[in-house]
Amino acid sequence: MYEILDGKTLSNQIKDEIANEVRRYTMQGMRAPHLAAILVGNDGASQTYVSSKEKSSHEVGFISSVYKFPENTSEEDLLKTIDFMNNDEEIDGFIVQLPLPKHIDERKVIHAISPEKDVDGFTPINVGKMVLGEDAFVPATPMGICTLLERYNIETEGKHCVVLGRSNIVGTPVANLLSRNNKHANCTVTLCHSRTKNLKEITRQADILVVAIGKPEFVTADMVKEGAVVVDVGIHRIPDETKKSGFHLTGDVKHDEVDRHCSWVTPVPGGVGPLTIVSLLQNTLKSYKKTMKP
Ligand code: GUN
Repeated sequence: MYEILDGKTLSNQIKDEIANEVRRYTMQGMRAPHLAAILVGNDGASQTYVSSKEKSSHEVGFISSVYKFPENTSEEDLLKTIDFMNNDEEIDGFIVQLPLPKHIDERKVIHAISPEKDVDGFTPINVGKMVLGEDAFVPATPMGICTLLERYNIETEGKHCVVLGRSNIVGTPVANLLSRNNKHANCTVTLCHSRTKNLKEITRQADILVVAIGKPEFVTADMVKEGAVVVDVGIHRIPDETKKSGFHLTGDVKHDEVDRHCSWVTPVPGGVGPLTIVSLLQNTLKSYKKTMKP
């Protein structure tokens, strides 16, 4: 029998912890932490992510603001908004929701964010500090995965962790974090990607398999070792006429055949997703404490 890494329940627990801390500060007369988001265009998934961030911010007593821009916004206007946020003392952290429309240079936009407010951990300064093991804002999804493994006491030391996908947002940073020299990491990490040969042979060696490949139900039972811990980062909307919404959600793992071979597995939804948002809240609180010195 496999067990569920229940991200929803754990995220509620951590949100309670954050809310209690925020209450302590606001009771002393301090302002609440403030997380802002920039959303450009009409991408459905991005709108959903930003609304959940807004909802979760309110749940923990944060101030939340969302700056929405139309699809045809110029890069210049976006950079001006970033400059404004970098200098606004009442914003502790902000994110620019990705992906951006094609005419905007994502790299230029990320580089414009002040590393002190980069709660997504995407700027070169934070990425560099993270790799060096220095204090940094760590990207939310990898941080959420590490929190999930840590809080569920999943043993990682000396384990073979195979990561599928080498994106800047998930695969590359999670491979780095899990190979670090600390009690909640110390994995031997293999990072697989689109050019990896004999993928199945490698994934079958994984004690911990982190899947962030962006392909619905890519991982099948024959790719997973008996008793592995499987972390599914994917979330896809699959058209489904039997649902009122017109779709159902699925991950990068074919759960109906994989789960029974696992020792622990993250569900989709309710696994990694809720922890990603909590990590963003934790990063914002960290930024707030740095400047407000409560
Ligand atoms: N798009 C998909 N995931 C993320 C994320 O973690 N942060 C931002 N800013 N955009 C995303």
